[in-house]
Amino acid sequence: MSMKIPFLKKKQKAEESQDDLENVPGHVAIIMDGNGRWAQRKGLPRISGHKEGVHAVNKVVKIASQSGVKALTMFAFSTENWKRPKSEVDFLMKLPKEFLHMYLPEIMDNNVRIKTIGEFDALPEHTKKVIEYAVDSTKNNDGMLLNFALNYGGRYEIIRAVDKIIHDIDSNGLSINELDEELFSQYLYTKELQDPDLLIRTSGEQRLSNFLLWQSAYTEFWFTDVLWPDFDEHVFKEALREYQQRKRRYGGL
Ligand code: FPP
Repeated sequence: MSMKIPFLKKKQKAEESQDDLENVPGHVAIIMDGNGRWAQRKGLPRISGHKEGVHAVNKVVKIASQSGVKALTMFAFSTENWKRPKSEVDFLMKLPKEFLHMYLPEIMDNNVRIKTIGEFDALPEHTKKVIEYAVDSTKNNDGMLLNFALNYGGRYEIIRAVDKIIHDIDSNGLSINELDEELFSQYLYTKELQDPDLLIRTSGEQRLSNFLLWQSAYTEFWFTDVLWPDFDEHVFKEALREYQQRKRRYGGL
């Protein structure tokens, strides 16, 4: 009798993980929202929510890469976030260092490659330095791509693409007749990425907030009331399970 229980458990586990591996979204994008509210509810300063949110990032990176997700894009700082008080912006700019200091070894163990999208050059030197180090250290990893959107804005990305296309028409022999959706995509920060299959936003808000505007044309959206610092493997799996039930028609039947 006692011999049977571990066997059944093992079998059940194998079946569960098999289920999980079916129809996994190739690219997941996440709007990490609710750090401030998480802190306020605990009577803590807003920045404590951001600090706690760093651990949730690591949990998701781990479960996403183990689930077979190919790319994970996390909205860490928007072009609009500069409007926040300087003390909060300064704190947010230190988070990549905090995250990498704690979790870069685990990221290496999970074979994850780090990159960024957004206006990287406008970030503070200390932030750029630590990210450049992480991008360089992980460049030969061929597992999941962890893509941080930092100083990223979707509308700016589109304007920037138009600007680059005009430049290539004026100076590099590009013909306007060559312009189609595929070519336009090549002028975006995300040129090497497939469009997101699943976009998750936490904290109960249901809007895009200037995130991946072009790329999310056919993305499945999933919203949860969970505040970002409370986000974990279980919530992520719930999102994956819901995604697995969706019928994607891309405008067809
Ligand atoms: C939104 O919550 C969250 C942000 C603006 C920052 C998100 C960043 C992290 C969770 C950490 C990033 C980590 C790395 C490794 C770069 P909010 O402050 O708008 O929350 P609120 O809506 O409750 O006020």
